Amino acid sequence: MIVDIINKKRLGQELSYQELNTIFGGYMAGKVKDYQMSSFLMAVCIQGMTDEETFSLIKIFIESGEILDFSMIPGIKVDKHSTGGIGDKTTLIIAPIVASLGIPVVKMSGRGLGYTGGTIDKLESIPGFQIDLSDSEMIEQVKKIGVAITGQTANLAPMDKLIYALRDVTATVSSVPLIASSIMSKKIAAGADKILIDIKVGNGALLQKMEDAKRLSELVVKIGKYYNREVRTVISDMNIPLGYAIGNRLEVLEAIDVLQGKEKESNLVSLCFDLASEMVSMGKGISKEDARKLVEESVSSLQAYHKFLQLVEEQGGDISDLSIHREKEQILASKDGVIASIDALALGKLSMMLGAGRESKEDSIDYEVGVVLKNHVGSFVTKGTVLAEVYYNKRVDLQSFENIFLIK
Ligand code: URA
Repeated sequence: MIVDIINKKRLGQELSYQELNTIFGGYMAGKVKDYQMSSFLMAVCIQGMTDEETFSLIKIFIESGEILDFSMIPGIKVDKHSTGGIGDKTTLIIAPIVASLGIPVVKMSGRGLGYTGGTIDKLESIPGFQIDLSDSEMIEQVKKIGVAITGQTANLAPMDKLIYALRDVTATVSSVPLIASSIMSKKIAAGADKILIDIKVGNGALLQKMEDAKRLSELVVKIGKYYNREVRTVISDMNIPLGYAIGNRLEVLEAIDVLQGKEKESNLVSLCFDLASEMVSMGKGISKEDARKLVEESVSSLQAYHKFLQLVEEQGGDISDLSIHREKEQILASKDGVIASIDALALGKLSMMLGAGRESKEDSIDYEVGVVLKNHVGSFVTKGTVLAEVYYNKRVDLQSFENIFLIK
């Protein structure tokens, strides 16, 4: 009986593969109701899962859909996943860098649900960019230019998709074993040889505590060992936004600036270089230090930027006019001082109100709205200095967002 399985988890007892399959398989078949699964997921959040239970759940998620096979693409395929954050446009920058160094990148990315769009929404803000490649088109493109970024096929771990939608509205997202099962089932089903996970921690992330980020890191590495995949992790700060732009097309413009070497110093650049170096190190089997030199050369020589242009062209995009046609309002400093912090969560909420993100799956996104920071943490500003420019199509009351910047 389903209720017995829920009760067992509530009491903190370990469930067998069979029991997990009964409840999750039943949910997928429509026999287990939303209220039963919600109650079960909450019990998981409170009681946790053993490693054995987590391995079983991943197997159940993977087997709910297709398992992709990219073995016909020569070379070691290294995939990367980020647990998501404000201003996270890292894939747009890293994929061309890594591909420009001869490592094939077959990247399936998601749309965003929450404060800002996902990688796919950002790419769709480029006129003409096609994100729906079939498996064979993707393979052909990677063989031809070394990189493809597409939307996730509906049949990749479909059970995770169903469960994630329920977790999203039942406050059951931030459970370490559930996050690990969700991410790793998709990465393994997507055929990656090696996997890099960027785990965000901070007020703008799914996980707020460093100890949870470390637990997730240990767990995904263990899962990798179980599935015979090398998994590395980077734990990165999400208390402040990544880079300067938040909003879909604005983030594409910033990614281009980084690839053209115009933005060199930001936390975005240092994270992208760090992640790309890990991927190149895994893909080529070289030290991270050697990989970093290659990454830096790829950007400074514009090799990575040319790979980006190739990617856009191959997928039908046109970046000749990425101008922003929205009204603009400024947020000004209210006093002199140093910017001590910028509240990533509050910025996320603001960009959502502007229309850069979706509250529900059906919502449409305005690609051109968002926020561009004009100063970042550590800058000295005087009263009246422009801290940020807000691009909008319907005016929002910026007064409640005055505290985004902490000036000391
Ligand atoms: N990203 C995912 O794909 N799943 C989670 O559960 C959390 C982050």
